[in-house]
Amino acid sequence: MKISIVQDFAKREKGDVLIVPCWTGPSLACERSFPEAAQVLSSGDFLGKAGETALLYVNGIKESRLLLLGLGDQQSLSVESLRCSYASAVKAVQAKKLRNVHLIVPKFLKFPIEHAIRGIFEGVFLANYVFDQLKGDTPKENLTVLIDNLSVSGVDKKVQRQIDRIHAMASAVYFVRDLVNGNADEISPSRLAKEALKLGKGIKTTVLDRKQLESEGMGLLLAVGRAAVDEPRLICSTYRGNPKSKDTVVLIGKGITYDTGGLCLKTPDGMLTMKSDMAGAATVLAVVKLAAELGLKVNVTALAPVAENAIGSRSYKQGDVYRSCCGKTVEILNTDAEGRLVLADAIAYAVKYLKPSSIIDIGTLTGGIVVALGEEIAGLFSNDEKIARDFREASDSTGEIAWRLPLHDYKESLRSEIADLGNMGGREAGSMKCALFLQEFTNGVPWAHIDMAGPAFISKAKKYHPAKGTGWGVRLLIDFLERK
Ligand code: BES
Ligand code: ZN
Ligand code: ZN
Repeated sequence: MKISIVQDFAKREKGDVLIVPCWTGPSLACERSFPEAAQVLSSGDFLGKAGETALLYVNGIKESRLLLLGLGDQQSLSVESLRCSYASAVKAVQAKKLRNVHLIVPKFLKFPIEHAIRGIFEGVFLANYVFDQLKGDTPKENLTVLIDNLSVSGVDKKVQRQIDRIHAMASAVYFVRDLVNGNADEISPSRLAKEALKLGKGIKTTVLDRKQLESEGMGLLLAVGRAAVDEPRLICSTYRGNPKSKDTVVLIGKGITYDTGGLCLKTPDGMLTMKSDMAGAATVLAVVKLAAELGLKVNVTALAPVAENAIGSRSYKQGDVYRSCCGKTVEILNTDAEGRLVLADAIAYAVKYLKPSSIIDIGTLTGGIVVALGEEIAGLFSNDEKIARDFREASDSTGEIAWRLPLHDYKESLRSEIADLGNMGGREAGSMKCALFLQEFTNGVPWAHIDMAGPAFISKAKKYHPAKGTGWGVRLLIDFLERK
């Protein structure tokens, strides 16, 4: 999308639609008075509630279409309400297949302009997305048309930089959505490795292949990936934005390119969404790419253990014991609890080689977290108060809620008679037991585990998220890193 700021509203280029913000209140007020809108405003058909829209056809303006957009009342305004309101404006524009939009940024009372810009443009960019690569002969008129020119008035030229940064952030979110939505057959471990190798300037990527994983003794990752045609890999992408510092945040993303459940085969319903099981890996790669583009002053490494949990004669087996690269052995009690296995090996690898000052792992780990928190909220587990606090603040700022849950001492349930650990511990508190399992590999390094099985992939479009892959977590992790 091309974005331009125009200083003089009268000199804007002719677009297809003009988006005019309105507030609720006793005297329903539009940012600019358009006499043409007066009738609608007085009719009671449009109240200016947050996210409400009304499309009018009027003479006397260049665009010939006015889209009134309700922002609610100024008192209860928030960055999140702006994201949602502007996302609904984008949807109204898309419904009419309009490509050229002029947006008037309203004046705000007691609301910092940076927050306003953030809410407005995150809402616009995040909503202006479609995944149609796999459409075949759907007639053109049934395909979504995206906005490709956005001109903006009501703001100083100086906000251009902030808007550009938000645009870069949205591109990183699209990167994740595209990978999650793509066919699992295509978005394989080798493809993810290829994506990592072209993340861009300032990023160093190495990929360990099967042979190297064998010599590192990464038996858990190798076990999970054994039955698949495309072999497992460990991707390691580093951006050093603060070379003078020894601190490095290691972000570890679950990269199961397809989760059949293995020999503990999933049901058809359970398997249907399992191309999304690499969302964690895509997220950490996107975060490193974006950190470099934004020039964040942090050192960050993305570690992505990638594998397909396939079923076949070479599948790893329930009841067998496999060894991680730190020497810990794990008895497989369920081959569908594979995410924690690949993450554990990667955590152990990070502790061994990368001198992490903190480790954050993220992925779609358990169905239990969806039962507990639903589609809009991820679970957060941490052994470190500062990390937990930073995520709380980051959640408040990005609207991506990672809700902290306890790491209660249920470790007993992960005991194994024949190995150091079992890979599951019964139905109760399953998401927590997954976190407890991972904690065993952290060696005391400050750590957090984010289970985003709910928000990473959703069945229906909601707010500024499209249906399917949402790219959830990219903004949260960047915001977290910015707090370093
Ligand atoms: N990838 C799934 C978790 C999942 C479920 C993600 C639903 C998104 C939506 C994970 O590998 C899994 O199968 N977990 C099991 C663990 C159990 C066997 C201990 C689960 O949650 O049932
Ligand atoms: Zn699984
Ligand atoms: Zn899985």
